[in-house]
Amino acid sequence: DPELVASGEKVFKKCKACHQVGDDAKNKTGPILNGIVGHPAGAIEGFKYSKPLLALADEGLIWTEEALAAFLAKPKSFIKGTKMSFAGLRKESDIEAVTAYLASFGN
Ligand code: HEM
Repeated sequence: DPELVASGEKVFKKCKACHQVGDDAKNKTGPILNGIVGHPAGAIEGFKYSKPLLALADEGLIWTEEALAAFLAKPKSFIKGTKMSFAGLRKESDIEAVTAYLASFGN
């Protein structure tokens, strides 16, 4: 849905301070998010994750749409001790839109 992707691009402005997507994306404060939807957590090469995120990754956390929705609503509740300093997205529609935007970037 191109309209959902377009509104997700606007929501992604909140993420851009720390995350990049696209061909020239680099790890910054947060990891590159190309291909993140459906991807195992904690697995972007060259990024130094927090211990709690790596512990969940060891348990097999995959960034499904459901897991992303829970994380993005309340990052610090979903991963206690995460170093992602972001309060979360309050609107479910924003979460849905930003997920569609992220899904438009493959690996
Ligand atoms: C981790 C998405 C905003 C900093 C992550 C991960 C996702 C994500 C999916 C997990 C990546 C992985 O497992 O490889 C988003 C989205 C945002 C957002 C969609 C906006 C809605 C931010 C902001 C910051 C930030 C504003 C910085 C202030 C980080 C950091 C991590 C991370 C440092 C690693 C967390 C850890 O190791 O515990 N983000 N993020 N993110 N993000 Fe964000």
